[in-house]
Amino acid sequence: MPAIVLVGAQWGDEGKGKATDLLGSSVDYVVKFNGGNNAGHTIVIDGEKFALHLLPSGILSENCVPVIGNGVVIDLEVLFGEIDALEARGRSAAKLVVSADAHVIAPYNTTLDKVTERFAGSRKIGTTGRGIGPTYADKMNRIGIRVQDLFDEVTLREKVTAALGLKNQILSKIYNRRALEVAAVVTELLSYAERLRPMVANTALLLHQALDDGKTVLLEAGQATMLDVDHGNYPYVTSSSATAGGACTGSGIPPTRIDRVIAVVKAYATRVGEGPFPTELLHDKGDELRNAGAEFGTTTGRPRRTGWFDVPIARYAARINGVTDFVLTKLDVLTGMPEVPVCVAYEIDGVRQADMPMTQLEFAKAIPVYETFPGWDEDISKARTMEDLPANARDYVHAVEAMIGARISVIGVGPGRDESIVVHDLLGR
Ligand code: GDP
Ligand code: IMO
Ligand code: MG
Repeated sequence: MPAIVLVGAQWGDEGKGKATDLLGSSVDYVVKFNGGNNAGHTIVIDGEKFALHLLPSGILSENCVPVIGNGVVIDLEVLFGEIDALEARGRSAAKLVVSADAHVIAPYNTTLDKVTERFAGSRKIGTTGRGIGPTYADKMNRIGIRVQDLFDEVTLREKVTAALGLKNQILSKIYNRRALEVAAVVTELLSYAERLRPMVANTALLLHQALDDGKTVLLEAGQATMLDVDHGNYPYVTSSSATAGGACTGSGIPPTRIDRVIAVVKAYATRVGEGPFPTELLHDKGDELRNAGAEFGTTTGRPRRTGWFDVPIARYAARINGVTDFVLTKLDVLTGMPEVPVCVAYEIDGVRQADMPMTQLEFAKAIPVYETFPGWDEDISKARTMEDLPANARDYVHAVEAMIGARISVIGVGPGRDESIVVHDLLGR
């Protein structure tokens, strides 16, 4: 049965965690396929709030097997910290499976991420400082440490020695930091090995067998389309493939087995970190939207930049990911706005264009062309069908749907698990 991909359509924090959790009881496996603890997913169940970073959002659904796929980069201290914190709250992580091929975030890479950003000054990316970029760089450079290396001390020592040969030069000679000892890094990584070993599996094989057995597999992205290393606003992106293609390489499930692609999109836009953001609202207007939507980072606590809904971006996400269904989140946050502007096209060098421009330079110059919709004042948090929505909210949803290249199947009207309007079943049943 189906393999379903779930991605973010904008710059992250669209509410992917809630959407995954909503599906959790209907899926057998939830696979995180990219990123690491740069992600932050907030899930609210019966008023209780959970913040997940490295653990797949399916961990909170009883019958679901959470899987950390080969495309993820793992900070082991964070992983076990998160598991312990969940278990202290009476939730079990016993079913968690971790790919033997996933890369490990070594301590030198967390340090390098932070010092590189500091060194970059005004050219910084605004990373989460979790070591994501340097760890993916090591993967591509073929000097990464993988989960399987933790079970062979000789290999681990060789790999850490090789990596540190270069890293220590950079740390000490460029950034004036203390060099790290091979023995200390090896000891730290080995300290997690015993606890990790029972969770480790050939996850690609496991997922193929699950699909052969008729199970439902949800592949859950961290980050989002505009943060994808290939398709986002390079260089202001993360270092992994956060779009639907990444679900295949990051899990070992081939494109021919993917049945549906769900993109989560916020009813407005937010961004954390540096980089172009055409519809950004500054000063009071931006603060107003930030406060209404409680837009502060789950991972770093940073205030998120806020702006209006951007149709060219949603349509771009629909194309790049092959979206079959959108989940439109946080519609409730727009309640009380006298009017709701939507960016329907860009003006670049005086020329109107409806799609993403070819180059970053053009995107950075894009001036939004707005169409403005009348707002609504009624509380919509109790709405469970389209008919429950006030006419202006319904018109807004329909107008957006007509422009973004795929149907809107679910609408979020609050953070809670049940605070959603389901228009079409996301699993296509
Ligand atoms: P993710 O990274 O895509 O999983 O999103 P985050 O969890 O970082 O940010 C989304 C925030 O919006 C979280 O605090 C969610 O609890 C909240 N949220 C999700 N959907 C809705 C919604 O429909 N309405 C409201 N008000 N909040 C929502
Ligand atoms: P979720 O999964 C929003 C941003 C950072 C920075 C850029 C690169 O919660 O949607 P990195 O640490 O990945 O090298 O930082 O990417 N970023 C996110 N922004 N949500 C996220 O994850 C993010 N993960 C990374 O702010 O601009
Ligand atoms: Mg988030």
